[in-house]
Amino acid sequence: MEIRIQTGDITQVQAKAVMAGLFEGVKTPGGATGALDRALDGIISRLIEEGEIKGKEGEVTVIHTFGRLPSPRVAVVGLGKQEEFSLQKVRDAAAVSLRHLRRLGADVVASVVFGAGIGGLQPQDCAQAMAEGAVMGLYRFRRYKTEEEGEIKELIMVETEAGKEEALRQGVERGRILAEAVNIARDLANEPANVLTPAEMAQRAQTLAQDAGLECQIWGPEELKEMNMGALLGVAAGSSQPPRFIILRYRGRPESPQGIGLLGKGITFDSGGISLKPAQGMEEMKGDMSGAAAVIASMWALGKLRPPINVTALIPAAENMPSGSATKPGDILRARNGKTIEVINTDAEGRLILADAICYARELGLAPIIDVATLTGAMAVALGPAATGFFTNDEDMARKVLEAGERGGERMWRFPIIAEYREMIKSDVADIKNVGDRYGGAISAAEFLRFFVEDTPWVHIDMAPTDNVDRDKGIWVKGATGIPTRTLVHLLLSMAQEG
Ligand code: BES
Ligand code: ZN
Ligand code: ZN
Repeated sequence: MEIRIQTGDITQVQAKAVMAGLFEGVKTPGGATGALDRALDGIISRLIEEGEIKGKEGEVTVIHTFGRLPSPRVAVVGLGKQEEFSLQKVRDAAAVSLRHLRRLGADVVASVVFGAGIGGLQPQDCAQAMAEGAVMGLYRFRRYKTEEEGEIKELIMVETEAGKEEALRQGVERGRILAEAVNIARDLANEPANVLTPAEMAQRAQTLAQDAGLECQIWGPEELKEMNMGALLGVAAGSSQPPRFIILRYRGRPESPQGIGLLGKGITFDSGGISLKPAQGMEEMKGDMSGAAAVIASMWALGKLRPPINVTALIPAAENMPSGSATKPGDILRARNGKTIEVINTDAEGRLILADAICYARELGLAPIIDVATLTGAMAVALGPAATGFFTNDEDMARKVLEAGERGGERMWRFPIIAEYREMIKSDVADIKNVGDRYGGAISAAEFLRFFVEDTPWVHIDMAPTDNVDRDKGIWVKGATGIPTRTLVHLLLSMAQEG
């Protein structure tokens, strides 16, 4: 989709549909909506009076213009209550209205920039939010659909005031990069596991790295053996798909020796292994590499935005399967740092592969270490689908993660590190075991990771609640969400700014 900025009068633009917003409770619309109302001989205000248009969030009313305007349709988009308006509402309104118009077959749509004409929000931020909402909301995973569907090819953002083009254009550019990164993560996570094997994920990471000017290194089973990554190899042991370890590097501050470590859980399918999961819903476990997907996607965005910061991404990738060669409950694995792990449950595999990645990140001197994983069902039970949980041993990072989440409209919720729970994961026969008690499962999983992290500044994001949505809602499209890609990008941008 092309997104253009145009200065002029929305009533004069030629498109398949023109859009303007309306706040809840407004009886006589002003601005562009008012101009459209006048051009339509007062149809909009009459429909408001009759109660058919309320301006509620998610409401889209399409009016046919029958020659009164150069465009055949006007869409009045509900923006909700003015006092509750925010950039997130701009994103959602853009997503919902454009999906609606796509269903009607519109391929060229012109719109005012929602929120840009009223006080409180910067026009550039509104244009960015609008581009984000459009690109995220119109996302579809259609690789395996053989029938064609209509698409919106062009979105024209119309601004009445001259002199704002450059600011709006910059907003659109940034919004587009952020949203395209999200869609890259979604594409990876939606891909079925028979296609997106660890090897294929590595290939795609390499292609994306090339596109964004990142360094890329990929290890296979031989290198993993040499590197003593016994935990990752142990998880991969049951699968005929060999594991990979993907390293991506972005150097935006080459003069500095410091670098941040971004780690992503890359389980391309989690059957549970010998501790097999129930059949119901198991197909969702093709998304168990959503952490890796968000990490790869945010590295791509970094390469496009080029902030002054160094980031190294480490992605352990494997398929967790049962077979004659699979790791069994009771087996003991040796992680890269020499520590031994008793595997109580082969379904707690994410923490195993991350253990090796954490050891390597520490050897490289990366700090803070930020890991992203669909780690525990317990986190999903605790938070439900509206928030992503995170843990950190660094107060400053806690604040930054919350702020970054806020900026992208991805709700983040901090969980406590509880050192006492180290007791739960003590093993009789090895240094540690991979499962704690049933209660507090997300926290004991974090405690397992902290065993390898030790005192390194660290953030652990457990995105099991939010990797997937079951219906379209605002900017979210049924399937993989691409969370927490934008949170990661905003976080790294804010860290770059602080130097
Ligand atoms: N990939 C799952 C966690 C998960 C569950 C992600 C639901 C997304 C949605 C993880 O590998 C897993 O199976 N965890 C187990 C751990 C348990 C065996 C200690 C879990 O949460 O049940
Ligand atoms: Zn599992
Ligand atoms: Zn898993």
